[in-house]
Amino acid sequence: MEKVIVAPSVLSLDYAKFNEQVIALNESKAEWLHFDVMDGHFVPNLSFGPQILKGFKKTTDLFLDVHLMVDNPSLIIPLFVDDADLITFHIEVKEDIDELIKLVKDHGKKVGISIKPNTDLAMIKPYLDQIDLVLVMSVEPGFGGQSFIEKSLERIQKLRKMNNEILIEVDGGINEKTGLSCVKAGADVLVAGSYIFKKDIKEQVETLWLDKQ
Ligand code: DX5
Ligand code: ZN
Repeated sequence: MEKVIVAPSVLSLDYAKFNEQVIALNESKAEWLHFDVMDGHFVPNLSFGPQILKGFKKTTDLFLDVHLMVDNPSLIIPLFVDDADLITFHIEVKEDIDELIKLVKDHGKKVGISIKPNTDLAMIKPYLDQIDLVLVMSVEPGFGGQSFIEKSLERIQKLRKMNNEILIEVDGGINEKTGLSCVKAGADVLVAGSYIFKKDIKEQVETLWLDKQ
C-alpha cells in the first residue's frame, strides 16, 4: 500500500536542539522537510532566510519543501531556489503567476501553488496542468499551533476532482485525526509542526505515516 508523505514543519523545531532534532528527523519516516518563509507583510510574522535552508541542506537528505509566504516571490524565489527541491508560492500574490511558475521551473525545481482558506479554488484551476503540487492551507498562514479548519476537507475533495494527478499537500492543524481525514479526502502530503515537535519526533511522524486511500 502506498504511503502518504510526512513533511515536518521546521517552524516548530527547537533551534536550541538543532542537531539532535535533525538527527531524529533523518531517522524518522518523514520524506520531506517543510520550510516556511515569512516576510512580515504577506503574513504578520517573520521566519527564516536562505542561510538557514543551507544549514538544513548540509545536515539532511530529506526533500526540501519551501513554502513562501511573501508578497514578492519574484524577488524571493532566486534566494532559495538552488537549495530547495520544491518551491511553493501563494496564488493571492499580485505578481504574474505564469512568470513565477517559469522562474522556478527554469531552475529545474518542482513548483507548487498554495491557497489560503478563504480564497476561491477557481483561482488556482487554470494553473493545475502546469504545476506539481497544490498546498491547501487548513489554517490562516502565519503561525504554528492553530486549529484545523474543517471546511478544508471539502476543498481537498474538490481539488482532487479537478485534477487526479497533482500532489495535494495540507498545512495547518494537522494531527493524527485531522491528518487521516485529509488523506481520506485525497491528500498526498501532510505538513505538521507543533504535533511533531512537541513530543517524540520519530513516534509522532509514525502516527501520520498513513496508508493512502
Ligand atoms: C503556518 C505554516 C505551517 C505551520 C504549521 O503558516 O505554513 O507550516 O508550521 O504548524 P502546525 O502544524 O503547528 O499547525
Ligand atoms: Zn507552511
